[in-house]
Amino acid sequence: MTLDPAKILVVEDESGMRTTLVANLEEAGYRVIGCNRGRDAMRYVENDAPDVVIADLRLPDGSGLEILESLKEIKPEASFILVTGYASLETAVAALNQGAYAYISKPFNMDEVHATIRNAIRQQRLLLENQRLVENLQLTNKNLGEEVSERKRAEEALAERSAALEAANKELEAFSYSVSHDLRAPLRSIDGFSQALLEDYVEQLDEQGKDYLTRIRTASQRMGHLIDDLLNLSRVTRAEMRPEPVNLSEMAKSLAAELKQREPQRQVAFQIQDGLEVKGDPRLLRVVLENLFSNAWKFTSRHPRARIEFGAAQHNGKPTYFVRDDGAGFDMAYKAKLFGAFQRLHKATEFDGTGVGLATVQRIIRRHGGEIWAEAEVEKGATFYFTL
Ligand SMILES: Nc1ncnc2c1ncn2[C@@H]1O[C@H](COP(=O)(O)OP(=O)(O)OP(=O)(O)O)[C@@H](O)[C@H]1O
Ligand SMILES: [Mg+2]
Repeated sequence: MTLDPAKILVVEDESGMRTTLVANLEEAGYRVIGCNRGRDAMRYVENDAPDVVIADLRLPDGSGLEILESLKEIKPEASFILVTGYASLETAVAALNQGAYAYISKPFNMDEVHATIRNAIRQQRLLLENQRLVENLQLTNKNLGEEVSERKRAEEALAERSAALEAANKELEAFSYSVSHDLRAPLRSIDGFSQALLEDYVEQLDEQGKDYLTRIRTASQRMGHLIDDLLNLSRVTRAEMRPEPVNLSEMAKSLAAELKQREPQRQVAFQIQDGLEVKGDPRLLRVVLENLFSNAWKFTSRHPRARIEFGAAQHNGKPTYFVRDDGAGFDMAYKAKLFGAFQRLHKATEFDGTGVGLATVQRIIRRHGGEIWAEAEVEKGATFYFTL
């Protein structure tokens, strides 16, 4: 950085001394003005404030201290160097007390003058630099403060919106809960009276009549299952979370054992990674694994042999758990439907189910602050990944 040469004002009534000083300082590269009277000096200070003033306090018009005063007012960072004639220490101290930078006694040596000026200018530049830094800091602080309050406003708006959303969700849950609940009673009547007809009036019914009644019963029972699933789904979201350490590996092993026991004839090899410990609600996490495992079990059922794997891997720096099978898989084009309630990618004639399992799983995972997603290929299998 090249700096402008400093401006120096020399106020000295002895013309020989003034000329020597001005010439010497000009030679050193400064912009120098010489005056012999305090009045001229004042005008100069007021119109084009110098960086350094070198002045004899014993000017004939006695204006030395006035020059110092107005210099400090107009340009606080400028330096005032006073020149004292006969070592009048008292005046020198008064000037220093009023903010003069230094004093030089006559007769002076030029080296001393140069050194004093250099120091004065250095101090002035440091002062300005400091001021600039402080201003920058203040500006940064102000911007930061604005950013913080802007962010606070956004957070408050968000909190308000999510509170409203939560309230709406709760209402919806309560509604679906009571509707499902109320639907059960009439359904039980339909099924119960159909059964009574089948049992008590069996003689009066022909084969077709009996078939109709059986169909009514099957349909109403299926509807009963749907309602139960709906109730379970809303219960999952309403249930209170009680997080504690959970060993997912042990949970997975016991689920695998249950599945094998239910259909011992199936050839399914389970591979379960040991020691997968997490923190979460054990009851809800069991619902997650139950659903993922029973899906893996169900969607491999058309293969003579199958393999179901449970393990963990790092994904984006987070432990990610997965349940993998080599069963029917699905077309990734429909993956958006996977976690919707009552959404299924397979026909009921192929694989039974109501399509609420994964919707329930996703709600539980989200309540734990995690994500769930899947990868699959038709007839090659599916992998469900989740974080907590
Ligand atoms: N392991 C899997 N392999 C292939 N497709 C799967 C797998 N898991 C889920 N799907 C697909 O996602 C759909 C939704 O799964 P979800 O568990 O919600 O329902 P479901 O198993 O059909 O019924 P439910 O779980 O309610 O008894 C399934 O119908 C199936 O099409
Ligand atoms: Mg399922």
